[in-house]
Amino acid sequence: MPRALVVYESMFGNTEAVAESIVEGLATSMTVSLREVGHAPYAVGDDVDLLVVGGPTHAFGLSRQTTRKDAAAKAAGVVVSGGPGLREWLDRADVPLGIQAATFATRAAHPRLPGSAARAAARRLRHAGADLASSPEDFWVTGMTGPLATGELERARRWAESLAATVAGRLEPVGQA
Ligand SMILES: Cc1cc2nc3c(=O)[nH]c(=O)nc-3n(C[C@H](O)[C@H](O)[C@H](O)COP(=O)(O)O)c2cc1C
Repeated sequence: MPRALVVYESMFGNTEAVAESIVEGLATSMTVSLREVGHAPYAVGDDVDLLVVGGPTHAFGLSRQTTRKDAAAKAAGVVVSGGPGLREWLDRADVPLGIQAATFATRAAHPRLPGSAARAAARRLRHAGADLASSPEDFWVTGMTGPLATGELERARRWAESLAATVAGRLEPVGQA
């Protein structure tokens, strides 16, 4: 089976829940590893057929140390990703040229602000030489700290299933010379 690596950042747990649903969707046709960004390898192996990265939208894009500090203050210091964020991981990551990739983010539905961590991550992956298999996808939370809007986990699972199907179609058929 083709292999997928899902790397996520999350403060209050909403993006983590979306990442877990994405794993469920991908796992219908792929072997999937899930890594919180602080525990993700910087060297992405050639054996990874699909790299999926996602994080919360902070200040119109990827989080920074300052925005993560704000989030930690709101969560009384207890956050899922207490170390580096996706921005720092993408800056350092060694990604195989031409790897299939996709990005996702969570965003607040109200107030609706411009910008998406998924779009920012997609730009960085494209510059690193990845081949985007899907448009960046946003999933909505109803307030600053969550919860996710109704139906978003199911939508994430279906998005991932369709992503896995796209990637399967792009991979070379096994056994061809
Ligand atoms: C410091 C900070 C800045 C934020 N900026 C934005 C923003 O620009 N646009 C937006 O839609 N949501 C913004 N949010 C809301 C986050 O997107 C929301 O907290 C996140 O989706 C929740 O995911 P998590 O539980 O995985 O951290 C911000 C949240 C924090 C804490």
